[in-house]
Amino acid sequence: MEYPKFPKDCKSLLCKYLTEDVFNKLKERVTPNGYTLEMAINSGVKNPDSSIGIYAGDKESYEVFDLLFDPIIEEYHGFKKNDTHKSDFSSDKLDFDLLDKDGEFILSTRIRVGRNLLGYPLGTIISKKERDEVEERVKNALLKLGGSLKGEYYPLKGMSKEVQQKLIKDHFLFKEGDRFLEAAGLNREWPDGRGIFHNDEKTFLVWVNEEDELRIISMQKGGNIKEVFERLANAVEALESKMEFLKSEHLGYITSCPTNLGTAMRASVHIKLPKLSTNKALFKEITDRNHLQIRGTHGEHSKSEEGIFDISNARRLGISEVEAVSDLYNGVKELIEVETKL
Ligand code: ARG
Repeated sequence: MEYPKFPKDCKSLLCKYLTEDVFNKLKERVTPNGYTLEMAINSGVKNPDSSIGIYAGDKESYEVFDLLFDPIIEEYHGFKKNDTHKSDFSSDKLDFDLLDKDGEFILSTRIRVGRNLLGYPLGTIISKKERDEVEERVKNALLKLGGSLKGEYYPLKGMSKEVQQKLIKDHFLFKEGDRFLEAAGLNREWPDGRGIFHNDEKTFLVWVNEEDELRIISMQKGGNIKEVFERLANAVEALESKMEFLKSEHLGYITSCPTNLGTAMRASVHIKLPKLSTNKALFKEITDRNHLQIRGTHGEHSKSEEGIFDISNARRLGISEVEAVSDLYNGVKELIEVETKL
């Protein structure tokens, strides 16, 4: 493989850190599961508008291609090669007031974590047989959950287009045909092995075999961040007693995209900020200072509609789950205070 040609205006972290020197040092390397540099960078090469542009094939990818992953991880999370990751998922540590008591701003709250199973490669290079096996194991574990987590598993294969579209529109299901995932190998044999589990209320959901083998999600209407976090903590604990997830001392939970390492937690609100939406500089100053990311109404790579934004923590590695959700809480609190005064 030759050094890829990136367009002049390419802004991804891949373009920034894949120098010819790094490329030449890594181009012959292969992980024990057969993942190569060419596979790792394909998404960012095919999609030069990527913000990151690189995916892992297994836990070892982060060591074998460390020359490229390390600076990307450091720039995204502020996490250095010799830092260690620590976890703290205890909801009793959250001293949160209920934000937006009158329900004027926050439409809904959603917190997810990504997980992958120990003993399998990541979705980028998993075989169909292994993916089906992961689905079966995850499904069986999920169907054993009781109490308020009890629910049903719905495979994507055979699901009607209408049901699928409705679930996507209501923000319950992942979308189909994402070009970033496609080029990363994550859409192979779609929709086989993919599915969604949810409880009756759709407050606890698990996506199976999308970007990560599991995306464990807690969500509900309104702005009660602590309640959403608590449900997720319980669900993750229940699942962790039924299966072992891929993790490392240094990087925490291992995910296919380096932005999700560590806690693998994205805590978000859908929030209506009509005034701040017309003052982008102030809006961005507040979110940047609070380590938050602004996405559009329909999530990543989408536009905002009617002044509604998806706001979430950007850092996930080198901070605990409690700290990650606190980034969201503190930032949203400030956004609401400023919006009210404008
Ligand atoms: N690969 C995509 C990009 O670089 C997504 C990066 C972060 N998001 C994610 N879902 N992993 O733009």
